Amino acid sequence: MRTKLAAGNWKMNGTRAQLQELTAMSEAATKGAAEVLICPPATLVCAAAEAAEGIAIGGQDCHAAASGAHTGDIAADMLKDAGASHVILGHSERRADHDEHNDDVRAKTKAAWDAGLVAVVCVGETLDEREAQNTLDIIGGQLAGSIPDGATGHNLVVAYEPVWAIGTGKVPTTDQIGEVHDFMRARLERRFGEGVGRSVRLLYGGSVKGSNAAEIFAVSNVDGALVGGASLKASDFVPIIEALN
Ligand code: G3P
Repeated sequence: MRTKLAAGNWKMNGTRAQLQELTAMSEAATKGAAEVLICPPATLVCAAAEAAEGIAIGGQDCHAAASGAHTGDIAADMLKDAGASHVILGHSERRADHDEHNDDVRAKTKAAWDAGLVAVVCVGETLDEREAQNTLDIIGGQLAGSIPDGATGHNLVVAYEPVWAIGTGKVPTTDQIGEVHDFMRARLERRFGEGVGRSVRLLYGGSVKGSNAAEIFAVSNVDGALVGGASLKASDFVPIIEALN
């Protein structure tokens, strides 16, 4: 059985004051069976790891190299040293803002694994790609290109985040989510074998809220959510955690 996962991506939001929300999330996190992960901005990883009880902490990106002359970048090992256990990789905002491609994400995922981090690899189609009925081709290509050999249920989580659903309040139908998640499960089983393919957790991300979480979590092969805006406040995120328990 796959353990459910409620993951929050704080993106470029939050200073130290934001950490009080973590404290408020801790009770819900320790009460239920679902795992809870918060990925704050890099400046807060260390403090968040110290403050969080029952909540795993992750980064939002890492460099593919282990160290070196890369001003402004962070190596996976540094995240690990700061107290992170996970790292989000290949988020569509990184793909768009920093021109990251599948091969970059693949190299970063390898670096994350080398440092002992769980990689939360993001995939998702744009609205144009969906309207052109290319969704499954895009997702298949991103999965194949972004995930290196060597995936297991322990080192990999995949998040399906349709670009058009991020921060827009638009959510795919449950049939659309189910179609993509079933497809991703089949692709992972085909590539990594049934055992591994079935053990990798698949998250849905894009305008998840307390009010739509239960419906989304009831979809086959949805093992949790990667939440942006609604993960910033405990009052918004706790109902999502509770919907998983
Ligand atoms: O990584 C989470 C994200 O992209 C979804 O954002 O604000 O639509 O929940 P949001």
